[in-house]
Amino acid sequence: MTDQMFDGEGRAAFARFYPETAGPVTHRLAGHPLFELDALVRLAGRLPGASVERNLGDLPIGVDPDAVRANGLSVADTIRSIEDNGSWMVLKSVEQDPDYRALLDAVLDEIEPLVVPRTGAMLKREGFIFVSSPDAVTPFHFDPEHNILLQMRGTKTMTVFPAGDEELAGLERHERFHMGGHRNLPYSDGFADRGVAHRLTPGRAIHVPVKAPHWVRNGPEPSVSFSVTWRSEWSFREAYAHGFNHLTRRVGITPKAPGRFPRQNHAKSLAYRAISRAKRALDPT
Ligand SMILES: [Fe+2]
Repeated sequence: MTDQMFDGEGRAAFARFYPETAGPVTHRLAGHPLFELDALVRLAGRLPGASVERNLGDLPIGVDPDAVRANGLSVADTIRSIEDNGSWMVLKSVEQDPDYRALLDAVLDEIEPLVVPRTGAMLKREGFIFVSSPDAVTPFHFDPEHNILLQMRGTKTMTVFPAGDEELAGLERHERFHMGGHRNLPYSDGFADRGVAHRLTPGRAIHVPVKAPHWVRNGPEPSVSFSVTWRSEWSFREAYAHGFNHLTRRVGITPKAPGRFPRQNHAKSLAYRAISRAKRALDPT
């Protein structure tokens, strides 16, 4: 195992991009034994069933989550035959396992000094491992976490779009997501030239800003990727501001968009937290 998860160039790139720019970062984890297929079969066996999700990977870029089909295989068979079973699979919250938690912490500890001065404390550290077949597609969606996707095996191309572009994901779409809606977003071919395609190979990673829409297509070999994520005080405030907007819309006011970094969303976030606390106090069920 390497002592350092990123080389100097990777840390410098992350420092240039964080938190609002999508861009490539080099890493030193390629070939790590915890990402061999047999190790991943063992990990999948230790994780609770709800932390393992798999489906067929021949999806269009834009997809209704209800239209995604199961692949009909066991978890172990999905991983072992990933080369030719046409699947997409994710092992979620791998920090539930001590070995993967230690690795996740080692990666995130290294960049924490770059993160904290900009977006506040590094909170809710989570790791996800994506195992996918040749040409599998992860449909167009956004995520609430800060994310670095590290490519471990095979290749993939992630196309990332600007966060905060309301034509790609309208405010009501953000609000529905924060009220428990699905992360997938409707896609139009007219969006294509606003995205930047980043090719990932083992040893390369990409920093993906909070809520930046993206979609992924695998290369011609099976792919294993490690997504290291965290929330920040800034990201929670962005989410609460959308929650506040949802409430104002319900009383007939059309709200303004929450600000992107370096804007802080303190007022809406404080108001939303106060309202949520009052609601809980009045109706603790
Ligand atoms: Fe994602």
